[in-house]
Amino acid sequence: RPVPVLAIDGPSASGKGTVAARVAAALGWHYLDSGSLYRLVALAAMRAGVPLDDERGVAALAAALPASFEDGRVLLSGEDVTDGIRSEACSVGASKVAVLAAVRAALFDRQRDYRAAPGLVAEGRDMGSVVFPDAGIKVFLTASAEARAERRYKQLIEKGSAANMESLLKDLQERDARDAARPVAPLLKLPDAVLLDTTERNVEQAVAFVLDLVRAGG
Ligand code: C5P
Repeated sequence: RPVPVLAIDGPSASGKGTVAARVAAALGWHYLDSGSLYRLVALAAMRAGVPLDDERGVAALAAALPASFEDGRVLLSGEDVTDGIRSEACSVGASKVAVLAAVRAALFDRQRDYRAAPGLVAEGRDMGSVVFPDAGIKVFLTASAEARAERRYKQLIEKGSAANMESLLKDLQERDARDAARPVAPLLKLPDAVLLDTTERNVEQAVAFVLDLVRAGG
């Protein structure tokens, strides 16, 4: 029997990262945050001075990405960049390198390697459509753009960072549009994915909803 995969896809700041990590912990399954790979590629490219639209250059970096994940920390060449890759520059950069087919191809096997017993919770934009099309359970986790911008706003304020609601909403909508409109692996709700709208649900309710799906067998 193939190792089970739960694929959770959805737009930025929908809360899918938090939900996916908690579901993985509750099940004792492995966890893949595929967005962090695109963020790492963007960071590596910016540091190396490779333009984010240089497909061959960025794909070469992606193929040899010196990244590792240890105890919830993200390392690039041994340096802890867990917080660094969450910056607005890396968010925007990730969505730019993510449109490049050669970059996506370079990260494909690396993502598939996360599939190991007893199971995998994989989170991103194309987990159910491209990377794990045979996932037993697919969830499309979303929320209204306003609710997502508000969550990001609160996170930034809690961290003591400056935040502007209007520009956050605008950035989010631009990033959504870029993710949905790209020809390779666009963000979409698959017909076989279960829709989970968290506009009116908190994290605990979303986690419980997904765990019920898994326990019911999809
Ligand atoms: O999920 P997260 O916001 O960290 O992802 C950052 C960016 O990486 C997204 O805006 C998207 O462009 C890209 N991405 C992707 N495919 C994935 C995961 C993320 O294209 N599976």
